[in-house]
Amino acid sequence: MSELETIQSDAESRIAAAADLNALEALRVEFLGKQGSVSGLLKTLGKMNPEERQEKAPAIQALRQAVADALAAKKDVLEAAELEARLATETLDLTLPAPEGARGTVHPVSQVMDELAEIFADLGFAVATGPEIEDDWYNFTALNMPESHPARAMHDTFYFPDTAPKGGRMLLRTHTSPVQVRTMMAEGAPVRIIAPGRVYRSDSDATHTPMFHQIEGLVIDRDIHLGHLKWTLETFLKAFFETDDIVLRLRPSYFPFTEPSVEVDVGFAIVKGKRVLGGSGDAPGHGWMELLGSGMVNRRVIEMSGLDPDEWQGFAFGVGVDRLAMLKYGMDDLRAFFDGDVRWLQHYGFSAYDQPTLSGGVGARA
Ligand code: DAH
Repeated sequence: MSELETIQSDAESRIAAAADLNALEALRVEFLGKQGSVSGLLKTLGKMNPEERQEKAPAIQALRQAVADALAAKKDVLEAAELEARLATETLDLTLPAPEGARGTVHPVSQVMDELAEIFADLGFAVATGPEIEDDWYNFTALNMPESHPARAMHDTFYFPDTAPKGGRMLLRTHTSPVQVRTMMAEGAPVRIIAPGRVYRSDSDATHTPMFHQIEGLVIDRDIHLGHLKWTLETFLKAFFETDDIVLRLRPSYFPFTEPSVEVDVGFAIVKGKRVLGGSGDAPGHGWMELLGSGMVNRRVIEMSGLDPDEWQGFAFGVGVDRLAMLKYGMDDLRAFFDGDVRWLQHYGFSAYDQPTLSGGVGARA
């Protein structure tokens, strides 16, 4: 037997005898690793003259291949054995009783977000998202609130310690409006999206929590006007509250990112001491309740998002999801939304088997 044959048969018998994957790996290193014996033989080729190399190389290459093949084959065998052993110890007790019923419930915020996604999908809106840890530019500057803008003060912003590399300060987004900018920049126009998500402000009482939920709407296209906004909001609110008796009042307002800006109020009646949506707020015994902010997207915002405001225009709106849930399902303290009290969740939660659909009703009770 030549020297190489001896090495090969020795390697093959040791590989065949390897007890487990660790032992096999140690053998791989011993033969084929950087300092391995077979690797060492391969290195000798470099020092030979061309004739000698041509003569010796095929046998050394073949040895390397044979050892590699033996390692791979043994690895397959050991892995299969390991899996067998694991399957033999993992058992499933099929005699355990099934739970009596669904245990958890869908949180009203998730429910309302699902309802809104369903309603807006029917109107041709896609769902967009953006980061909750946002930079100053998207949250404020690109929305026409430069550094010194007084509207910034109204946002009670949670800022991160100033460590940002480019000087763009990081913060917890105070509204979902930055998703408008991100979507226009990423996708161009036309745009038809809603953006639901968490937002943060340093504020806390019965109707304010430091984290709450908003849903943003954005439509950008050619020749979009306030009429489209009003129709969209009316259609959405009628579907959401499941009544045609919704009367809106559009009130001139101001947001830096819209021009003109409108606040939208909805008429309600007082029935047995409770507010019930419906009818004009001007009727006797009725009132108006502020529901959401909206307007025609300011051309500065369209420009900063990389689109030509002479070609593209549109409308946007932002509404509090928690507030919509309270109005529709009758909770009166926002803080309970985030207490995680199972009794509250059992009472106000929804069945996970009841997906909101337009045909089946978007507000089925658990
Ligand atoms: N971002 C505003 C806020 O959180 C709400 C809002 C108002 C959003 C008007 C809009 C809008 O898109 O057009 O207070």
